[in-house]
Amino acid sequence: MSNTTAEILGTPLTINKLTLKNRIILGPMAVLQPTQDGRPSNQSIAFLKRRAQGGAGAVFVGGSVATARAFRESPFSPNIRYDDDAFVPDLTRLVDELHGTGTGVAVFAQLFPAFGRMGVPRDGHGITSASPKPVDMGGYGLPDHVYIPGGRVTPVPGEATVEEIKELEQAVVDAARRAKEAGFDGIEIAAHMCYFYSSFLSPLSNFRTDEYGGSVRNRARALTDVVAAVRREIGPDVALGLRLSVNDHLPGGQGPEGFAAVTAEIAKAGLDFVALTDGNYESMKDNVTSESGKMLREGEPQGFRKALGPGVALLVSSTPDPAQAAAAIAAGTVDATMLARQLLADPDYPNKAIEGRESEIVWCDHANSCMRRLILQVPVQCHKNPEMGREDATSRRSNLAQDAFIWAAGNALLMKIADKAARALPKKAH
Ligand SMILES: Cc1cc2nc3c(=O)[nH]c(=O)nc-3n(C[C@H](O)[C@H](O)[C@H](O)COP(=O)(O)O)c2cc1C
Ligand code: SF4
Repeated sequence: MSNTTAEILGTPLTINKLTLKNRIILGPMAVLQPTQDGRPSNQSIAFLKRRAQGGAGAVFVGGSVATARAFRESPFSPNIRYDDDAFVPDLTRLVDELHGTGTGVAVFAQLFPAFGRMGVPRDGHGITSASPKPVDMGGYGLPDHVYIPGGRVTPVPGEATVEEIKELEQAVVDAARRAKEAGFDGIEIAAHMCYFYSSFLSPLSNFRTDEYGGSVRNRARALTDVVAAVRREIGPDVALGLRLSVNDHLPGGQGPEGFAAVTAEIAKAGLDFVALTDGNYESMKDNVTSESGKMLREGEPQGFRKALGPGVALLVSSTPDPAQAAAAIAAGTVDATMLARQLLADPDYPNKAIEGRESEIVWCDHANSCMRRLILQVPVQCHKNPEMGREDATSRRSNLAQDAFIWAAGNALLMKIADKAARALPKKAH
């Protein structure tokens, strides 16, 4: 491998039978403004095309639900849907338009099977998880300029039955078949944050005593089975991976060695890649961090490489510093850098990094107004990039009142007052 940052990031990467033209990937983000009934819109396609034109080797299509259950309980909406064959033509259009850019971009579907502890009970349906443990957000620390006045504890989920785990597995298999039919180059099963499959992996959120709890093998079982079943459905050649949180970052929680051991067990069922993300909703300041290369500094990808070997591609998050990412790739620690916010702020980052034009990069400032917009369900925009969220003329824009609300929600003094007020109110029972 060549040894300048630009050359390393510009080196192709093969995942299963798929070759990415470079090592810079757009991470999944629920910023696509799909239609209310769950189809990619012109804006969804325009946003992704712009990142393809900016040089991304692959784009992950985020904010998307694999199953009717995930659609019902989704904490953010609208979502792109894969839970019915009727969605395949619109998904095909999205993939075709991206392939038609002539950029050579690869297109990955992110499939959310169910939201588990982060699900929203709706229409008389409760939520379930590996074990009945709610999510306590905010206690450990939130991303910079993100506040949750009064904190938030989610409703207690029920313990998922074995029948339910099996039903969900079949629904994910059906969604993967649809993604393959639509022509996606790869599929990522979302098993991170505090979502359904994630809850099985750590003893902190899984205290079952049946065959899905306890030992590494048991905690890996739900995902091992779903990966094996999806692999049988899509065949050996489609790139298949997981998105995982690789460190609880909580007292009594599981660290990267524990997560890597469970993942090594799952990988035997046929994984091609793992997208590594840090922390979860209970340790959100580690998940949406302001520090480039934090995961590498903490040795998380290193532990995964050791446990998984070179056969499973590792995609590291939150490393916008091109030199850091290139050094980790050259060292064989990871295989690619997967960027979210940085590619909102500058869709041309990949071309600039690969062409050695780093001085031209528009840097994300990690002030997280995009994240506040997502949480407060206001169309996501980026103040560093006025074009973001407006790539198509039909896009939805926020109004002045919403803009003021997003500003206020990021103001430390106002949020301190709101926090005091919220904590003084009597607690509502869920
Ligand atoms: C606006 C916004 C929307 C996001 N939506 C998703 C999503 O749909 N799926 C997902 O797995 N992660 C989502 N994320 C998390 C990112 O993919 C990523 O893990 C996180 O922002 C940290 O990476 P970064 O430092 O490169 O931004 C979202 C992040 C942001 C800022
Ligand atoms: S709004 Fe833009 S600059 Fe600010 S954190 Fe989000 S992506 Fe970065």
